[in-house]
Amino acid sequence: MGLKLKNPIIAASCGLTNSVENIVELERNGVGAVVLKSLFEEQIANEVNHTMEQGEFSNYYPEAEDYIRNYTQGNDLSVYLDLIRTAKQVVKIPVIASINCVSDSDDWISFAKKIEQAGADGLELNIFILPSDPTKPGEQNEKTYFDIAEKVTKEVSIPVALKISYYFSGLAQFVTKLSWTDIKGIVLFNRFYSPDINIDKMEVKSSFVFSDPASLALSLRWIAMLSPHVKCDLAASTGVHDGEAVIKQLLAGAQVVQVASVLYKKGFSEIAEMTGKLKAWMEEKNFKSLDDFRGKLNTSQYDNPAAYERVQFMKHFSGIE
Ligand SMILES: Cc1cc2nc3c(=O)[nH]c(=O)nc-3n(C[C@H](O)[C@H](O)[C@H](O)COP(=O)(O)O)c2cc1C
Repeated sequence: MGLKLKNPIIAASCGLTNSVENIVELERNGVGAVVLKSLFEEQIANEVNHTMEQGEFSNYYPEAEDYIRNYTQGNDLSVYLDLIRTAKQVVKIPVIASINCVSDSDDWISFAKKIEQAGADGLELNIFILPSDPTKPGEQNEKTYFDIAEKVTKEVSIPVALKISYYFSGLAQFVTKLSWTDIKGIVLFNRFYSPDINIDKMEVKSSFVFSDPASLALSLRWIAMLSPHVKCDLAASTGVHDGEAVIKQLLAGAQVVQVASVLYKKGFSEIAEMTGKLKAWMEEKNFKSLDDFRGKLNTSQYDNPAAYERVQFMKHFSGIE
C-alpha cells in the first residue's frame, strides 16, 4: 500500500485498537502498524439521518441538508477522528482507519475524507455482504464492492484496502478483478459472526468469537492461490497465532499479516515472540529480506492448482479407513 512498516505484523481492527493507550502499547511491543476498530456505515449514516429526521432545519433553505449532514458528522464522529489525530501524534507506526460498510451510500463515503484529513495513513473497508437472497444474482452483490472501491478511492488519496469474505462463487476472479481497481490492498479474510444453535433453549447463539490456529488454512490457501495473480498487496487475516504462521503466510505470498485473536488470548507481548521467530528463521535460512522468500510457496509452481489440490486430497484422505 506504499506504507513503510518495520515488520509485517499488523494489529487487526478490533476492540484492542480503539484507544490511544493500547496503540502506544502495541507499538512498544513491536507491531508494524495498527488498524483501528471499525466505525459502522450505519453509525455514520444514522447520526446524519437522526438529525435530518428532526426536520426543523431542513425546510429553511436547500443547503440546510448539506449543512446538517456535515455538522452531525463533525460532532458525533469526532471521537473517532480525535483517536486518529492523537494516535498520529504519539506513535510512529502507520495508523489505518477502518469502516465496516455494505453500500456505496454518499452518507458515509463523504466521511472518508475526514478520516484522511485527520491524518490516517490508510483506510481499510470491511465489506461483508452475505449473499443470502436467493433472488439476487452474485454479480449484483459483487458490483457493490466495485462501486464502493471506485467511490472511496475517488474521495481520498490515502491508500485504501478492502477486507472481504470468501463467500463468492468465483473468488479467484473476483479478487483478481478487485485488484485492478485503484485500491491498494486486499485483506483475506474477515471473521464473521458464526451462528450456532443452543439445542436446550432451541435458540440461535453465537459460536466462538476468537479464531484458533487451525483457522489459518483458509487464508493460507487463498493467499497462495491469489498472490501470483493480483495487482495489489494481500494481507493475511484469520488464524495467525504465532511466528510460524507469519512465516507460512509470507511464503504463501502475503505482504503482511494481521492479528487479533492472539492479542486477546496471549497479550501484546506475543508480537515480540512473532517477530523474534521470524528473525531467527530468516537468519537460519540465510534470508536478508522478506522479498527473498515472499511467495516462494505460492501456487505459481503448479500449472493447475486445482488439480494439485485434488491429488493432495486423494493422497491424504483416500488412505484413511
Ligand atoms: C473481538 C473482535 C473484534 C473485532 N472487531 C473488528 C472490527 O471492528 N472491524 C474489523 O474489520 N474486524 C474486526 N474483527 C476481526 C479481526 O480484525 C480479524 O480480521 C479476525 O479476528 C481474524 O483474525 P484473527 O484470527 O487474528 O482473530 C474483530 C475481531 C475480534 C476477535
